[in-house]
Amino acid sequence: MTAYDVIVIGGGPGGYVAAIRCAQLGLKTACVEGRDALGGTCLNVGCIPSKALLHASHMLHEAEHNFTKMGLMGKSPSVDWKQMQAYKADTIDGNTKGIEFLFKKNKIDWIKGWGSIPAAGQVKVGETVYDTKNIIIASGSVPSSLPGIEIDEEVVVTSTGALSLTKIPKKLAVIGAGVIGLELGSVYARLGSDVTVIEFLDKITPGMDAEVQKTFQRILAKQGIKFVMGAAVQSVDAKKTKATVNYKLRKDESDHKMEADVVLVATGRKPFTDGLGLEALGVEMTPRGQIQTNAHWQTNVAGIYAIGDAIQGPMLAHKAEDEGMAAAEVIAGKHGHVNYDVIPGVIYTNPEVGSVGLTEEALKEQGRAYKVGKFSFMGNGRAKANFAADGFVKILADKDTDRILGAHIIGPAAGDLIHEICVAMEFGASAQDIALTCHAHPTYSEAVREAALACGDGAIHA
Ligand code: NAI
Repeated sequence: MTAYDVIVIGGGPGGYVAAIRCAQLGLKTACVEGRDALGGTCLNVGCIPSKALLHASHMLHEAEHNFTKMGLMGKSPSVDWKQMQAYKADTIDGNTKGIEFLFKKNKIDWIKGWGSIPAAGQVKVGETVYDTKNIIIASGSVPSSLPGIEIDEEVVVTSTGALSLTKIPKKLAVIGAGVIGLELGSVYARLGSDVTVIEFLDKITPGMDAEVQKTFQRILAKQGIKFVMGAAVQSVDAKKTKATVNYKLRKDESDHKMEADVVLVATGRKPFTDGLGLEALGVEMTPRGQIQTNAHWQTNVAGIYAIGDAIQGPMLAHKAEDEGMAAAEVIAGKHGHVNYDVIPGVIYTNPEVGSVGLTEEALKEQGRAYKVGKFSFMGNGRAKANFAADGFVKILADKDTDRILGAHIIGPAAGDLIHEICVAMEFGASAQDIALTCHAHPTYSEAVREAALACGDGAIHA
């Protein structure tokens, strides 16, 4: 069998990016993927399909709520769910085929099937054993349900089933007010479902800046999403076409029930390492079931690396991609690096949420002296014209040095705007650096500059 320099196990954003970078660096590379298409969870049943449904349902929302205000008269479009699903499928297909093309272009072998590691230096797929100098495990993650809940992917679903429901449910119960629950909850609320989110904590999107959490929940509630907060889901009783969610309110331990046509379980994901043979190899794991790696993505077994959702850190496609590139560079004898302090997080609802760096709560906890520059999209001409003035930009900077420590944006195109701050943080910029940079008018990005100005002598349009 051909001997490889690197075999990557998993063809998701972490794995395929690692494979491409390995090939670009002159390493003979293969990627093992058992799905019918490359791209992993992200392209097949995650980021990409959900963005297609978010885009389509946002268009409907615009038609229903804003078209007549702009003089666009006539009936709002009706929803053809089958066609929307076909659009989603085309979007997936276009993207996964794109990865296949990149593999061919970079002369990467796609070994189809599920891989295991019988020994360091070997990857087994089916009955074939491939020799390789290095292995990168990029096996990703799977939804983690709760005890007492059986997933059937029809009535009780994870994000995977929620993307391909046979029809739009009348009533949707979402367990967990995290990223998945709110993005998919938004899709179905816009398509006409009665959506209730049941969340264990008292705030949505754990770990996010508290002001953003509050504003975000208020806006989503205005859009018709209902919230039951401080509620611990105990179990779900599923019948053929309906299910009952049983939950306990934490404040008084009282028991409640909620009936729904579909229940989406969005209570987090867990690393997927089944079948790799890691235990027999003696690969060290963390207590949370992640593969333990050092600062160079090496496991304790020589020649075996791991990246992405299967290791520690936020379960984000772009974090996996960065680790994929860096691990490839380490294998090629270069100095791969990931700056874990500057990894943006984005929620693709409307408005979007984008954040990077430390939150105000984290700064307080660290006892750090900081200042806040905040600017509302109400003062942004472009946002007002586009009926998108809900939300704000908040920049946190060191009180003495003015160095940017974090930024939190809720508003139009927040997921794109946040990257100006990411670049600034990579360069160790101060808020004043952004404030002194000319921003085109009229753009949403002016709100970022105004927030930076607010860290100094003050925003102009506030
Ligand atoms: P999450 O960890 O973001 O949120 C799960 C929520 O469920 C938490 O708020 C938690 O308090 C709640 N919860 C847990 N047990 C509960 C119970 N018994 N009753 C009620 N509520 C309960 O997990 P999520 O949304 O499933 O996402 C999984 C991963 O996928 C995350 O790491 C996320 O970052 C990633 N992801 C990222 C996206 C993005 O970047 N736009 C999109 C989708 C997923």
